[in-house]
Amino acid sequence: MSYMMIRAGLRSLSVPAKLQLNRMVRTGVDALRNNTLLASQAYINGKWVTAENKATFEVYDPATGDSLAAVPDMTSTETEEAIKAASCAQNGWAKTPLKERSAFLTKMKTLVDENSEMLAEIMTYESGKPIAESRGEVKYGNSFFEWFAEEAKRIRGDAMLHPVKRDSRYMIVRQPVGVSALITPWNFPLAMITRKAGAALAAGCCVVIKPAEDTPLTALAIAKIAEKAKLPAGVFNVVTCSRKNAESVGETLCLSSDVRKLSFTGSTPVGKHLYSLCGSTVKRISLELGGNAPFIVFDSADVDKAVQGAMGCKFRNTGQTCVCANRIFVQSGIYNSFCSKLAEKVKSLKYGHGMDPTNSLGPLINERAVVKVKEHVDDAISRGAALQAGGHLAPEFGPNFFQPTLVTDVAVDALVNREETFGPLAAVTKFETEDEVISMANSVKVGLAGYFYSNNAAQIFRVSEALEFGMIGVNEGVISSELAPFGGVKESGVGREGSMYGIEEYQELKYVNLNF
Ligand code: SIN
Repeated sequence: MSYMMIRAGLRSLSVPAKLQLNRMVRTGVDALRNNTLLASQAYINGKWVTAENKATFEVYDPATGDSLAAVPDMTSTETEEAIKAASCAQNGWAKTPLKERSAFLTKMKTLVDENSEMLAEIMTYESGKPIAESRGEVKYGNSFFEWFAEEAKRIRGDAMLHPVKRDSRYMIVRQPVGVSALITPWNFPLAMITRKAGAALAAGCCVVIKPAEDTPLTALAIAKIAEKAKLPAGVFNVVTCSRKNAESVGETLCLSSDVRKLSFTGSTPVGKHLYSLCGSTVKRISLELGGNAPFIVFDSADVDKAVQGAMGCKFRNTGQTCVCANRIFVQSGIYNSFCSKLAEKVKSLKYGHGMDPTNSLGPLINERAVVKVKEHVDDAISRGAALQAGGHLAPEFGPNFFQPTLVTDVAVDALVNREETFGPLAAVTKFETEDEVISMANSVKVGLAGYFYSNNAAQIFRVSEALEFGMIGVNEGVISSELAPFGGVKESGVGREGSMYGIEEYQELKYVNLNF
């Protein structure tokens, strides 16, 4: 079925769809009525502001299609104001003693803990994420505030004797890069802000955040946390805009010579465009772009453990993570056993509105995402794959639902093996030898995360070295942690986030030659 036919099919679905909502799920503007972290203005220079022309755009619940709120649809005008506010605050923030910067981050961490349920609720309503996963993301996201509050105190440099002169010293200091623009995605609306902003603030950089148009409410809720923590005006700014204005707001951030750093998480094509724009001012840049993760199961693996790992790795966030398994390669000796166990698990997945705690999968973010999954399923089947579970849209649940799906015997050249799906589709391809699977795994242009299951020690060393990915899970399907450097190789990006290395992305090394 072509892209146009799938879109036409989606449009003709019964409207309004017969929603399978749990009684505890509120809908539309009522949904977040009692949530005191809900904001409908953007946050610039310590003030809650509208767009200069008063324009707004709607934020929708992807599970129902209902409008949740309207927020300012800002343009380059307000973006420049935010950059100006951050530039004015930059010197003061850079000079704020380390312990004070650390205390601000600790305060933000405490406030996130105290408001965790409201943050999780906002996230589930605007991103569709099941509530248990939103609660998990609040904890995961907050681990970056905690981590970087600690790292802030450990910023240090080096001092060395001069190699030949008695009265000279070399000194190397770390200084904040300066105003940092953070462009964040909808799939982890909280953690991608805390992972970037935690490091930036700890290093002494003021931030201008542009959240994805699908999930601005979580970003604004974090701005409320920054306000409650009494961060000085201009240190933390959030500019909201619709898809229509996203390009001009992004360009303003990339082309401004007052912005010294861009950190972007999102698609590879957009990342490449921003990368080239940043060249005009030679900005520091971190890019966390698309992946197409291989998930390899060797004959020696513990099959139950591998099936469990594949479920978490593939279906977390309804398959909408950059690091989720996209291509599942299983060796011939255990192929049938793995596929039948995986089919059982996929068929048992319950999906529906994320606020119903019994659901482990929610909707996809929008119609474009549903169309892509359907295309990948249809393409795999047209090339001989067998449909074992799901395979169809689920309009009776809401406009953006797709059934958790498993296809087996997928051809190596199927679309799903070439492109990231970003949805609840598990696609399994059989392989025979280690060399064959390594070459299939490395055949793509991206290299974010890769996973494999094996109980052969020599193979574990060989394969983890041979895979061309920035992060590798060995007998482990969920690898993200504030302690570990997150990032990819090849077209998956540049730079690392989180961990002891993440703060370096927001620091310049300055060398001082002291002669006395
Ligand atoms: C992502 O999908 O971009 C982030 C996933 C993670 O941090 O685990």
